[in-house]
Amino acid sequence: MHYLFHFLLLILRNFLQLGDMSDKENGPPEGSAWAELKLPDLLFTDTIRELHAAIGKEWDSLQQSACQTAAGRAMWKHVVHDPVAGLLAGETHLKSFYDKINKDRLNNAREISGVILAVRTLWFDSKLEAALSSFNGGEAQVVLLGAGMDARAYRLSCLKESDVFEVDFPEVLQIKTSLLQAAMEPTNEYQHLRMTAKSLTRVAADIREHDWVEKLQKSGFLREKNTVWVLEGILYYLSHSQAMQVLKMIADNCCVTHTVLLADFMNKSSTMLSTSTFHFYSDWPDHLLPTLGFSDVKLSQIGDPDANFGLMHDPLNMFNKLRSLPRSVQTHPDDGTPCRRLYLVQASGSPR
Ligand SMILES: C[S@@+](CC[C@H](N)C(=O)[O-])C[C@H]1O[C@@H](n2cnc3c(N)ncnc32)[C@H](O)[C@@H]1O
Repeated sequence: MHYLFHFLLLILRNFLQLGDMSDKENGPPEGSAWAELKLPDLLFTDTIRELHAAIGKEWDSLQQSACQTAAGRAMWKHVVHDPVAGLLAGETHLKSFYDKINKDRLNNAREISGVILAVRTLWFDSKLEAALSSFNGGEAQVVLLGAGMDARAYRLSCLKESDVFEVDFPEVLQIKTSLLQAAMEPTNEYQHLRMTAKSLTRVAADIREHDWVEKLQKSGFLREKNTVWVLEGILYYLSHSQAMQVLKMIADNCCVTHTVLLADFMNKSSTMLSTSTFHFYSDWPDHLLPTLGFSDVKLSQIGDPDANFGLMHDPLNMFNKLRSLPRSVQTHPDDGTPCRRLYLVQASGSPR
């Protein structure tokens, strides 16, 4: 089971509004792009089949969450341009995501599964691009912690001057590399796929351990170089002390160089589901981060002007209802259900 996906579904279920649905409210594709699931042909070749079979057998649910988020991006391809998302997600995860979307559509749900993933991806893309341009075209490093099946190094042209580091478990990075290598072979569907980043280094590490920074540095990461840290869908899988350790380590870099942090945080209620395996939360990341050494913290909620991308016009959409309530409110006044929030946060710091 994929925790983030499960969380997204649960919060949707909890707040699900049934009734008339205008397709435009959640930004579904025009026409029938969701009417049928078209799997990439390459998924049916022996090499790719074997790699995905290994994922199904050998990866735990935490690692498989990487494929679930890729499936979400593949399903929302009308707004998220990720040409390899379907390949990296695999048939099982694509089919199960597709089934959820179909169910939501049949139920006339106001929010369609995956909309949070789509908005989150687009928010990280846009903030990453803005952060890199704030470095005035200088060279930069981008570190993706818990990179999973993230394909930004192949899809974002703003990374052309940046050295990208993907950090994840060795099993995840090995199979991801093999999938992409197989896809780019001369006769294959993705033969024209090219890296858009200046360089890409995969760093096998467990960020709960103390040696991950050392591993990053041994792989070429330079503390003194401008850096953007991308923590997308990762912090809440860590315990409180592990997450704080990671954030402190990043904050320490603010004294050395221009540092930008992009991260999503769950609030407490979001981690309190009975089935949840989420741990770390913060109700006030905008208060927490300055205590660690970050300045200039900006927090967005899904649906805010910089975090909706035209995907949620309906004021009755649960995200719009949620953000109309003060953040200190813990339960919905209408029905007493918990206010489950996902905060998108950017923070930065530089040597004085
Ligand atoms: C929900 S996925 C998100 C992947 C990617 N950031 C994205 O948004 O598509 C979480 C990823 O974090 C990785 N991860 C979780 N805990 C980790 C840890 N302690 N060290 C390294 N990677 C971790 C998982 O293997 C998985 O790839």
